[in-house]
Amino acid sequence: MHPLQCVLQVQRSLGWGPLASVSWLSLRMCRAHSSLSSTTCSSPERQEDGARKDFSSRLAAGPTFQHFLKSASAPQEKLSSEVEDPPPYLTMDELLGRQRKVYLETYGCQMNVNDTEIAWSILQKSGYLRTSNLQEADVILLVTCSIREKAEQTIWNRLHQLKALKTRRPRSRVPLRIGILGCMAERLKEEILNREKMVDVLAGPDAYRDLPRLLAVAESGQQAANVLLSLDETYADVMPVQTNPSATSAFVSIMRGCDNMCSYCIVPFTRGRERSRPVASILEEVKKLSEQGLKEVTLLGQNVNSFRDNSEVQFNNAVSTNLSRGFTTNYKAKQGGLRFAHLLDQVSRVDPEMRIRFTSPHPKDFPDEVLQLIHERDNICKQIHLPAQSGSSRVLEAMRRGYSREAYVELVHHIRESIPGVSLSSDFIAGFCGETEEDHVQTVSLLREVQYNMGFLFAYSMRQLSKRSVTDLCGRNDGNLKVIFPDAEMEDVNNPGLRVRAQPGDYVLVKITSASSQTLRGHVLCRTTLKDSSENC
Ligand code: 5AD
Ligand code: SF4
Repeated sequence: MHPLQCVLQVQRSLGWGPLASVSWLSLRMCRAHSSLSSTTCSSPERQEDGARKDFSSRLAAGPTFQHFLKSASAPQEKLSSEVEDPPPYLTMDELLGRQRKVYLETYGCQMNVNDTEIAWSILQKSGYLRTSNLQEADVILLVTCSIREKAEQTIWNRLHQLKALKTRRPRSRVPLRIGILGCMAERLKEEILNREKMVDVLAGPDAYRDLPRLLAVAESGQQAANVLLSLDETYADVMPVQTNPSATSAFVSIMRGCDNMCSYCIVPFTRGRERSRPVASILEEVKKLSEQGLKEVTLLGQNVNSFRDNSEVQFNNAVSTNLSRGFTTNYKAKQGGLRFAHLLDQVSRVDPEMRIRFTSPHPKDFPDEVLQLIHERDNICKQIHLPAQSGSSRVLEAMRRGYSREAYVELVHHIRESIPGVSLSSDFIAGFCGETEEDHVQTVSLLREVQYNMGFLFAYSMRQLSKRSVTDLCGRNDGNLKVIFPDAEMEDVNNPGLRVRAQPGDYVLVKITSASSQTLRGHVLCRTTLKDSSENC
């Protein structure tokens, strides 16, 4: 699908139907109190019915002028323990979990395990309880992964099982709510809501703070979504809840997102731009873990060693970044900030008897300071994950990795000289677009040459931002609603008899035949102009 502007003949019967349900984010800016009370119906179905009506009428009434005045006032620092004011269409009572039991299920990488604890920490503060028994749950949240097709297929299959659970649920219990969190929510967005009608909540990786509101909206029987990515969300103030009191190790998230744009990878699109958590808040968490007696901390991030804390102005100097020799970036060189070497130094000083690891790094960000520190400090583990992805320079270029095989091998030698006895591991992708047998042989030869301690091997899985139909086109009507229609031949009103196909920038007349909560669908009638359509429609 490619975007087209379109003039649309919207059927009257559709009216404003699609706008009646809560749509993306349209309401999330409002933060003032509602004076309306919550529903008091006793049975869960009646309660839900009443709640829906009550909620819809509050939604229709919308925020008042006072609400806007309040949200326009100067922003104030909020303490994490403070309970947020509810948006105007929700009461405080609705925003709280009311002892509903949440079952969280995690898929994918360690970042997702950490995100699960962040989501839980936010929900716990809001009055939800956690359960490890699926049958007991009132809310089921899946923290999802999009990195390969197989990861997503697992979630679709799981959703089918949960659908059965939802339909079998006795009417005497409150309705079961299902939420998709994380990368898959971000990649597929409304496709999930449209395809799986029983999904109530969608929350992208930067929207977990909004979970209490999204669940409150879902309580009224409407689907709710927030897939906004942020430039600065690091959840620095949300300490993950330590779920296992006898644990001896923990993960500490230090940065989120990725700016590298490797051509095979969906992560920059699902997790957004790179941003780092302030050093002080990381040290605070590590100190707490040390006091609790933990013996190992793993610093966590999509590109952990690209860490750059820009929160303190005095460190935002013009000193440019040292990359590993022979490595380049896909983005404009960044400057200043407190870098990974500084953080690693500080973290390793917190408790000399606490081991420090980090994952997952990018090979481009191993300047000598980092290698030296790993060598010097007894408590920094001599273990480096160095994802190569391929042993063929030709494939590495197509992958936009920013290094050649030769530069990578030179880095390996340099690391081994700087940190004798270091353990190395790597990720590899086989079957990338255009990869030949010769390229593959080079990957195998790199594996033999480096002699890694561990390797993670993946079959290439093609990722797109969202599944787009090759036979459908998409445009927006005057009211800015998305309209989807099949790519078909049509008449051009300016050239009667001429059959044309719509091109980007064309105005077309579309007859609307159906609507979902987010989009209209129809079929194309003719190519037109704004003037002609206003005169003849
Ligand atoms: N197909 C297969 N493997 C992938 N990875 C990332 N994207 C893809 C993809 N589209 C692998 C890379 C990365 C690891 C976390 O997952 O090897 O380092
Ligand atoms: Fe983690 Fe990557 Fe999967 Fe997202 S896509 S959950 S970052 S492995």
